Amino acid sequence: MENSELNIYKQELTLEEYSKLCSTIYNICGIHLQDTKKLTVEGRIRKRMKSLKMDSYSTYINYALSETGMKEELIPLIDVVTTNKTDFFRENAHFEYLSQTVLPNFIEKSRSRERGNYFQFWSAGCSTGEEPYTLAIVLNEFAESNRDFRFMIYASDISTEVLKHASLGIYELDKADVIPSNYKKKYLLKSKNPEKQVVRFIPQVRSQIEFSRVNLMREATDIPSNLDVIFCRNVIIYFDKKTQEQVLKRLASKLSPGGYLFLGHSETIMGIELPLTRVASTIYQKK
Ligand SMILES: C[S@@+](CC[C@H](N)C(=O)[O-])C[C@H]1O[C@@H](n2cnc3c(N)ncnc32)[C@H](O)[C@@H]1O
Repeated sequence: MENSELNIYKQELTLEEYSKLCSTIYNICGIHLQDTKKLTVEGRIRKRMKSLKMDSYSTYINYALSETGMKEELIPLIDVVTTNKTDFFRENAHFEYLSQTVLPNFIEKSRSRERGNYFQFWSAGCSTGEEPYTLAIVLNEFAESNRDFRFMIYASDISTEVLKHASLGIYELDKADVIPSNYKKKYLLKSKNPEKQVVRFIPQVRSQIEFSRVNLMREATDIPSNLDVIFCRNVIIYFDKKTQEQVLKRLASKLSPGGYLFLGHSETIMGIELPLTRVASTIYQKK
């Protein structure tokens, strides 16, 4: 280890620096960084400092929060503070509700709809893509027995790093372990190189998902309105109540009447006035 690296390990972010960072992040992405996250944030900033060849937290914070830094360093800084934990078939009850209740209901109503049998889904805060690819599997399975069913999935995140990963559609073999083996056979390809323990989604599935960068604190202009289903799970948990309210209002306005919003297991719309009715645990329908 070089001397400068040893020095970094001896330092820590001062409370003043951390609180400046927290308020900037809150204003830009709505993420409310807890004090308990300070150690994690320090560790991730260290990596950034190494690649920028900076040897003190103060130098990094002064740069990142400066006018120039806000242009050049904002995207990596957002990667530093976001929590990207996700999994295939995470909170599987949601995917069961989708295929057993929501999709059959859509098919029934498709004759009386202007857009007929074409349905649009949005995974908002999709992280490395496990959620939209799980959606794609579920929707393709449904389409097999409902030949008229057509769909498109939009998937977005604020972090460009996770979006790069997601749009490649390549995953470590053990990450894909939770995908049932019949789906793996149908929708995943093994790498031709036996040394690489990775799988990739087939081109048909990759073409059904459009990835884009969306900050949920702003209007999502790249995402169509009149969506049929929005998954925004384990995202608003990092926002305070005021930001949750603003984000949920924007999401609700993107749904067409009868459309569904799925939130994460510990998230709720309780206490917020929205044109949504609870239809199952953490699942809401637009009036
Ligand atoms: C814990 S992951 C959830 C992933 C997936 N939805 C799931 O439940 O498995 C939260 C994601 O929300 C994203 N995120 C946080 N703040 C955001 C914002 N203001 N706009 C858009 N995405 C945001 C993060 O980058 C992260 O990838």
